[in-house]
Amino acid sequence: MKDVKIAPSILSADFSKMGEEVRSLQESGADWIHCDVMDGVFVNNITFGIKMVEDLHKITTLPLDCHLMIVHPEKYVERFAKAGAHIITVHYEACKDNLEEVLRLIKSTGAKCGAVINPDTPVEKIEKAIPLCDMVLIMSVFPGFGGQKFIPESLDKLREVKAIVQKLGKDIDIQIDGGVNPENVALVKEAGASVIVAGNAVFKAQNRAEMIAKLKA
Ligand code: DX5
Ligand code: ZN
Repeated sequence: MKDVKIAPSILSADFSKMGEEVRSLQESGADWIHCDVMDGVFVNNITFGIKMVEDLHKITTLPLDCHLMIVHPEKYVERFAKAGAHIITVHYEACKDNLEEVLRLIKSTGAKCGAVINPDTPVEKIEKAIPLCDMVLIMSVFPGFGGQKFIPESLDKLREVKAIVQKLGKDIDIQIDGGVNPENVALVKEAGASVIVAGNAVFKAQNRAEMIAKLKA
């Protein structure tokens, strides 16, 4: 089994000092920086976009994991890649008719690509696209806000994706996003997650390095 990566979500950061926040995550042992991009249309919240990724890319060597919660992601993926995104994930719900095309477009930029499903979308909807993916992201909360409660049914979806990935025999990461904390992290790892997003757990911790180590252990 490969090492689990921890990807703190900067959605929970203090946006007025984002540079310091990201430096602190890097010093605390984060593996990736999870960037939650929201457009106020696909979800009921607005965060940040390409410029944030571009500026963060200048101040950190950590891979920027860009989770696009936006409609028409195909319009923007090339610019996110150019800004320095290491991996770009797009929602099935935002590109039901062209998911595979969008994944190929991301790959053509040189960035890694991933497909995301919401808690009420079955794994079978993206099954055909999984061989194209570097990562599959299972949402364990409905996207839009940090600090929500983990939906336990997500564990079955992780197992389902893990079985598909094993059958393919490909090196595809499985990411879990939403409500992960020290109490449930063992369960998500057991179920197959190899990349763990954590917003509130890391940002509300007294000691970020200890929390990241705890989630990783
Ligand atoms: C939800 C975001 C998540 C979320 C994670 O829309 O995609 O990345 O902020 O935050 P926590 O860990 O607090 O649920
Ligand atoms: Zn996210």
